[in-house]
Amino acid sequence: MVKNFKPCITEIVGSYWGDEGKGRVASFEARNARLVLRTTGGNNAGHTVYYQGNKIPLHLVPGGIIYEGVMAIICNGVVIDPKVLFEEIQLLSQYVPITPENLIVSDCAHLIMPYHIVLDSIQEDKRGFRKIGTTHRGIGPCYEDQARRIGIRMQDLLRNEESLREKLALNLSFHEELLWANGISYTIEDLYQFCMKAKETLQAFIRNPEDIILNALEAGDKIVIEGAQADHLDVLWGDTPNTTSSQCNPSGTLSGSGIGPVYVDKVIATMKAYCSRVGNGPFPTELVGKEGDIIRNLGHEYGTTTGRPRRCGWLDLVAFPKTRGYTDICLNHLDTIGLIGQQLGYIKVATHYDYQGMNTTIFPTDMEITGCIPTPHYEVFEGGWEIPTNCHTFAELPERAKKFITFIEEFTKVPVSYIGIGPNNEDTIIR
Ligand code: IMP
Repeated sequence: MVKNFKPCITEIVGSYWGDEGKGRVASFEARNARLVLRTTGGNNAGHTVYYQGNKIPLHLVPGGIIYEGVMAIICNGVVIDPKVLFEEIQLLSQYVPITPENLIVSDCAHLIMPYHIVLDSIQEDKRGFRKIGTTHRGIGPCYEDQARRIGIRMQDLLRNEESLREKLALNLSFHEELLWANGISYTIEDLYQFCMKAKETLQAFIRNPEDIILNALEAGDKIVIEGAQADHLDVLWGDTPNTTSSQCNPSGTLSGSGIGPVYVDKVIATMKAYCSRVGNGPFPTELVGKEGDIIRNLGHEYGTTTGRPRRCGWLDLVAFPKTRGYTDICLNHLDTIGLIGQQLGYIKVATHYDYQGMNTTIFPTDMEITGCIPTPHYEVFEGGWEIPTNCHTFAELPERAKKFITFIEEFTKVPVSYIGIGPNNEDTIIR
């Protein structure tokens, strides 16, 4: 007998450098889902969910958990700071019951250990002028231990004492020299107690989620994967070395769940009507003067996780990843770009670059070596707009806004199916 695959997965991925507003479309898509999965990254990510008018900032738990009947799974690909996860469970519990019935933490997910956080800063210092500008949450060092095939996984918390202490000693032996050189040391006892605290607070949620995922796939139930970070921050396909340490483009985001591509139904690219980036790395349309300040202030572009001011610039369609198979776009901040256009008298969108004497529509991968940042060429849109109150449909948008969206669709050949026209999740036009 041949198996019937029903594509039932909706993936939501940031298509630039993060902070594109995945939470908006994720919360919309999660409403009729059976499972919501987080599959990559750690508490370097941040998104806000809204529950009965309350703002709940989350870093690890998929926001869809707030809906009744929706189960959230933190999958193998995620790296977990146990204290942050427990605080999030406590915070969410003020609004909805969080139990093993609606939250699973994969037994194979890795723990961010205290030395990973210290090593993140030590490694940043070692890089000197090549600093990445990490979030200092220990994400990179934790993934390094995963790749070394050591690392402490959630299931290790359930080992007997002797076996856990032995594994901790192995892990520590890989890092001790560098830690000592920086005047820092941990005892096995410190780490064992850290693990026992993690076990006490999280044990109830730790399990292998495979049977639950399999049941949902076989029933064809909707599964939403809330991506973390974004396409250009992918460790393999992003702007190396200024990336995060996980694969967070659509295929990496799927890989973190253990589910095969045949089940994917939709891959939604989230983007803003302009671009922003935190941390270092190439940003061809970046605006450093007054124009950048206007975007930052009107878009409130300050990090949710670190509070850092974000670098801001025009929307860059050259940097939109073209081979990923995005089926839909969620375009956020259409209201903000309208106001920016009103203040400046124009809005720009990059359509091609001059790079190394060539005219190109492909984002270069060798900027670190050439030391050159491409010069963007722009399509210029005159003036701006204000979104009328009570605007609920594409047809009700100002003509200039419609022209802007149509241009993006024609250029990317991807439909803009979700349009963010205000700060709240309800301020979304769905087509
Ligand atoms: P790390 O993930 O903390 O190692 O940081 C590596 C790079 O990814 C830095 O430039 C961070 O600013 C960036 N980064 C990590 N997570 C996010 C995110 O959720 N949004 C935007 N940038 C991020």
